[in-house]
Parts: sequence; structure tokens; C-alpha cells
Amino acid sequence: MKIFIDSDNIEEIKKYISWGVCDGVTTNPTTFYKSGIVGGVGGIKKRVADISGLIPGLPLSVEVTSEMPEEIIKQAREYSAWADDIVIKIPVTDSKGNSMLGAIKQLVQEGVVVNVTLVMNFNQAILAAKAISSGMEKLAIRKNHFVSIFAGRITEEQGVERAFQVIKETRAWLDFHKYKNVEIIIASIRNPENIEYFSKTGGHAMTIPPDAIAKALLSARTKEGVAKFMEDAKKLN
Ligand code: E4P
Repeated sequence: MKIFIDSDNIEEIKKYISWGVCDGVTTNPTTFYKSGIVGGVGGIKKRVADISGLIPGLPLSVEVTSEMPEEIIKQAREYSAWADDIVIKIPVTDSKGNSMLGAIKQLVQEGVVVNVTLVMNFNQAILAAKAISSGMEKLAIRKNHFVSIFAGRITEEQGVERAFQVIKETRAWLDFHKYKNVEIIIASIRNPENIEYFSKTGGHAMTIPPDAIAKALLSARTKEGVAKFMEDAKKLN
């Protein structure tokens, strides 16, 4: 399972690259807002360039900031030209529930790599996979695209077992029907318990906020064990 860093914080991304646990990065308008990015698209572009320089060859997801399909397509074309390996995040529907699958299919047809985001159930996930697959039909080179299932948000509304089931069943469906170029990103991770639990769903990747990764490494028993070994090592002199 790949690990993506769910953050646009440069120092955090650098840290997890140095640990060897960064296979990509995901961002969204909220992460940029929390990081104090200003200047609209220009501000986002600058931060994206900085992140992209740190992770050459790895996917970097950048979300569109419009709900209008024509504007989404325009933004996606623009953002995907910023750097190699930019992945365009597009919500599966707009805030009124209108489908964004047409824009998604169109962009895939044009060779843009997409990450269908804010996916909350199995039906949305397989419809997104079908739109992606349909967009790829006539392409000679088939890149991998993503569907982000929001495990944390599903859990908050319907419980952790339901979130687990949505991801596991989507993976089984993709495999059964041989959707080789669609990967599930397990998103909306809240804590180390989520990391352990949802890692068993078969999701291809998990995007994790930096603080949850840091906490995942910790165990009081490990710290205590190291302290004792160090103490006893001194007694050997
Ligand atoms: C994924 O790509 C999203 O940016 C992220 O996981 C969002 O999760 P949250 O807004 O529910 O925290």
C-alpha cells in the first residue's frame, strides 16, 4: 500500500520523504487555507511547484476550485501543465449533487490524470471508475487514475465497519472486473487506529495527515525498552 502525505506543508513532506514513507502528496483547498496560502491560483501554483520539486515522479494531487464542469475542465488543463505528475482532484458531484463524471471522462480522454474525490459510498466509487475507464478507451497509453474514498467522513456518519466495507467491496469489484488503471486512495484518515484498520481493506494507497503518521510510529513500550537498553549498556563499561 502506498502512503501519500495529506498535506502541503513543505517541512512535513520533507520529513516523511527522508523517512522513506512518502509515495505521493495530496492537497485540497482546506490544506492550503490552513497553511496560510494566499494569492488564489497563483499562491497554489507556487506551493505546488515547491512540493513537486521534492517528489519528482510521484503523484501530487491538486483540487479544482470550481463546481462548473467547463471551468473544472479549464482549471484541470491549466493545473496539469504546472508540472509532471500533477493529478487533478475533482469531486464526484458538485455541492448540489450534479454529476461531475462528464468532466472527469473528458479530462481522462485528454490525458489528464484524475483523482475523483469526496467519494462516500460504493456506488459513487464504481461510477467514477467507469467514467475513468470510459475516458481511457481510445488511449494508447493508459495511466493510473485514482478514486478517493473518505474513510474518516464515512466513519463519522455511518461507523467504521461501513467505511471498511465500502473500500473493501470497491477493491473487490475493481479486481473482479479487471479495472487495472483505477486505484483506491483511502482518504480522510484521522488517527493511527484508522491507519491500522483501513490498511486491511485492500486500498491501493492511503493518504495520511502528518500528525497521524508521527503518532503511528510511537509506542510507550518501545521508548521504555530503548531507555532500559541504554541504561544497561552504560553498566557494561
Ligand atoms: C484527500 O485527498 C483529502 O484531501 C483528505 O483526506 C480530506 O480529508 P478530510 O477533509 O476529511 O480530513
